[in-house]
Amino acid sequence: MSVSPISSVVLQSAQQQIQQDLTTVLAAFSIPEPLKAAVHHAVMIGGKRVRPALCYIVASLKENPNYAAARRAAVAVEMIHCYSLAHDDLPCMDNDLLRRGQPTCHVKFGEDTALLAGDILQSMAFEILGSRLFDETQPAVDAQIVLRQMQILATASSKMVCGQVLDLQAEGKQVAQDALEEIHRNKTGALIQAAIMMAAVTLYQGSDAEIPLLRRFGQAIGLAFQVQDDILDVIGDTEALGKQAGMDAQLEKSTYPALMGLEAAQAYAKELTDEAFAAIESFGEAGQELRDLATFLLLRQH
Ligand code: IPE
Ligand code: IPE
Ligand code: MG
Ligand code: MG
Ligand code: MG
Repeated sequence: MSVSPISSVVLQSAQQQIQQDLTTVLAAFSIPEPLKAAVHHAVMIGGKRVRPALCYIVASLKENPNYAAARRAAVAVEMIHCYSLAHDDLPCMDNDLLRRGQPTCHVKFGEDTALLAGDILQSMAFEILGSRLFDETQPAVDAQIVLRQMQILATASSKMVCGQVLDLQAEGKQVAQDALEEIHRNKTGALIQAAIMMAAVTLYQGSDAEIPLLRRFGQAIGLAFQVQDDILDVIGDTEALGKQAGMDAQLEKSTYPALMGLEAAQAYAKELTDEAFAAIESFGEAGQELRDLATFLLLRQH
């Protein structure tokens, strides 16, 4: 399998779009220092921006009069993701010093400020979803879409937190595969799936056939994403990753390579990606960017 050049073009354009939209959003909030600098550090520096890319790709599956709502969703989901990273790196969690090639938020700003940066990002995400940002010419937002997006994001954020607790509890233990799957689906898969579904509701009604198919696609790549993250912690390079490799083993984390071995974990990530492809087979040519992104995620080195 090779990475289609399209996927990197799609990801690059998503990175530019989200960078621009995040800049607009952060400028609209009045936050005292040093919190403002910590929020900026957590949000603006790099990252693959996979979740926003998924929002944009899904929202472009067909002509979309509600595209602005998907742009807000991209900002909101990336903010929740960045908050989860700032908290995940804290000494009381994974105790990491390096993130996106930079000192982690607490190393640079202190634990108190890093904690609060995560807190404020969480509420900002929901404030943005309910705003008219990127849509100011419209008389009003579609309240139905906003409500569904808020429900999707709130559910996924809670799952992320539950997954993080299960992840911490599983340190130093041998857990069964179904328990590990539950951790990964919650801590990482749910938010990736939410990115897809928050965009899906800007295009489709609940009864449309595309909704369950996109949900299945999201479930499969969401789990594959964390399996690959676990694999990269074993075989990846700290510089390329922008985060310290080998930390999972040091913390005795429950991971797929630890549970089933490296090769079986790699085969499982591939199997999940194939499952994702199968879910959207009926999309035909329209699903190409989703397939390209799923392939990129499987083959990524960072
Ligand atoms: C890392 O997420 C943490 C997980 C949920 C596995 P990403 O790999 O998406 O991190 P960035 O945003 O690209 O830095
Ligand atoms: C993180 O999982 C999941 C989150 C909710 C942030 P990891 O702890 O494996 O993520 P990294 O490897 O530190 O990015
Ligand atoms: Mg963690
Ligand atoms: Mg971590
Ligand atoms: Mg990891």
